[in-house]
Amino acid sequence: KSEMERDILKVLVTEEELKARITEMGAELYEQFHGKNPLFLGVLKGSFVFMADLVRACQVKSDVEFIAVSSYQNATVSSGRVQITHDLQQDITGRHLIIVEDILDSGNTLAFLKDYFMTKGAASITIVTLLDKPSRRTKAITADLAGFVVPDEFVVGYGLDYCQQYRNVPYIGVLKPEVYSGE
Ligand code: PRP
Ligand code: MN
Ligand code: MG
Repeated sequence: KSEMERDILKVLVTEEELKARITEMGAELYEQFHGKNPLFLGVLKGSFVFMADLVRACQVKSDVEFIAVSSYQNATVSSGRVQITHDLQQDITGRHLIIVEDILDSGNTLAFLKDYFMTKGAASITIVTLLDKPSRRTKAITADLAGFVVPDEFVVGYGLDYCQQYRNVPYIGVLKPEVYSGE
């Protein structure tokens, strides 16, 4: 076992399941957006792995953009304050946005970003998230397309971190409680 695998309690979504579902999601987005020149807008850092796979699963003429926000800092619970740590580098006025997130949890991040992108003049906003954890939602926000619904457990891998680590685990897993019990 690798040094990271030793910290994983169980696998929630395997690499094969991720690949199959993302292929379906890409096809769905193709049907919806071909001919519309959408802008895939990845929410860093968590979305970087999903973004890379999703854009290749959806062969529409499009471009990519990123924004970086953080609200969890080094905890397993959202601080509630969403900070932009790297802003958009282009004008999004009139663009059809496909927001790409790794997980929709409390909804703080996407509620904040949806408002922010509206004020910047987006023509439409479609929220795509790999994981949806509806049991923890505190904001009235839903995904337009979600890959998997996950239970109320702290998940890592495939872009998702705990204290900035485990993002390079190739599947979605749950950490052993002792890894974050010092919190
Ligand atoms: C995580 C995750 C989502 C957000 C979801 O990001 O990547 O962006 O929290 O949680 P919410 O619905 O409760 O807002 P985080 O703030 O940890 O930053 P990161 O992407 O850099 O890890
Ligand atoms: Mn994030
Ligand atoms: Mg994080």
